[in-house]
Amino acid sequence: MRLYSKACLLTSIFGLLSLNVNNSIAQEFTETTFKAGHESLQQWILPSMPEPSDNAITPARIKLGKALFFDPRLSGDKNMSCASCHNPSLGWADALPKGKGKNSALLARATPSIINTGYNTIQMWDGRKKNLEDQAIGPMEAQEEMHADIDQVLQFLSDNSHYTKMFRRAYPSEPINTDTLTKALATFQRTVVSNNSPFDQWVKGDSNAMTAQQVTGFKLFMDPNKGKCAVCHSAPNFTDDGFHNLGLASFGDEGPDLGRYSERPLRMMKGAFKTPTLRDISLTAPYFHDGSADSLTDVVVHYVNGGEVKSNLSPNFLAAELSEDETADMVAFLKALTTEREPFRVPNLPVEE
Ligand code: HEC
Ligand code: HEC
Repeated sequence: MRLYSKACLLTSIFGLLSLNVNNSIAQEFTETTFKAGHESLQQWILPSMPEPSDNAITPARIKLGKALFFDPRLSGDKNMSCASCHNPSLGWADALPKGKGKNSALLARATPSIINTGYNTIQMWDGRKKNLEDQAIGPMEAQEEMHADIDQVLQFLSDNSHYTKMFRRAYPSEPINTDTLTKALATFQRTVVSNNSPFDQWVKGDSNAMTAQQVTGFKLFMDPNKGKCAVCHSAPNFTDDGFHNLGLASFGDEGPDLGRYSERPLRMMKGAFKTPTLRDISLTAPYFHDGSADSLTDVVVHYVNGGEVKSNLSPNFLAAELSEDETADMVAFLKALTTEREPFRVPNLPVEE
């Protein structure tokens, strides 16, 4: 996966090389047999969640991270938690075109779901954070989000006997500090996984898990002459961990959001955003970093139109060639990527008697 994302970075810098990526996708397509359980499909099976060597996933860490994720006392006004925006009943996002922060202020971008984000090799729409540990302090401190004073948060946690016990169990030889706080939040997020959708069951051999229309949709998704999707939404997590400009209408705005360019000032990166996973995608409308697509059909129509503002399109973005029926097949396939689960149980917050 690492090698592939490097290849993609290169393709984004040197347009020419994209020919190679497209060739390898064409080869992959020819070699794929669209039959439930076929060996050629096994690359889509998600591996177990990667864990950093200094922050292995343990039940005590999950429990602590889960409480922290849902605790509004981690915010300045004590009224906003991570889950206010990454809401489990809204696909771990917020169902809004753009995030809503402190005092309902509109944020610059849409809230991404945290589903499968533990598989990402880079975080945020513009990749400005390298991993989940690195990410977690940002929203707590951000003035327009939770706007907390971290020293006060650490004091609150150290004064709460339930939290001190939970920290001791989770990180026995470490103090309560930003390090253990962010490690616990990261660990909990690594358990928010989608890996048992009808598509996953079909890949593993259950021929009844997807409908014939959904299998057709998957074929179109992979086909380098039709949907052309897999070049970016690649196996196993439907992402290349790369950044692409898809020619969204908002790129034509005055002073547009430049995305990845603010981190990597290369022309190709102007208006480029991270390729999101597509697992559980039916749960998280509206779509794109600017929330500009209301439905999955709107998204696919955007690809068929080949984008709206075409001044800096990713070399890997070629208009999809899909009829109206095929567009419906594609949408049916995208809906097969959602794992059915029991409703999520929000934890009881540790309160002092
Ligand atoms: C006010 C809404 C809001 C709150 C509160 C919030 N987030 Fe987010 N989150 C966002 C938005 C918006 C983004 C995307 C911002 C960007 O990419 O520029 C984001 C991005 C992320 C990402 C990156 C996901 C990816 O795939 O790149 C992670 C992980 C994340 N948030 C975790 C958290 C955690 C942990 C907390 C609590 C400490 C939290 N968020 C609190 C709105 C919020
Ligand atoms: C050139 C790379 C590329 C190709 C090809 C591509 N995508 Fe994407 N996809 C992306 C990127 C990057 C985003 C996020 C763009 C943004 O928000 O600015 C995205 C976003 C999406 C989203 C919305 C995700 C969300 O969480 O908001 C869906 C759904 C989607 N793509 C499906 C598809 C389908 C279906 C195809 C084929 C018809 C396809 N993509 C082809 C790179 C690509």
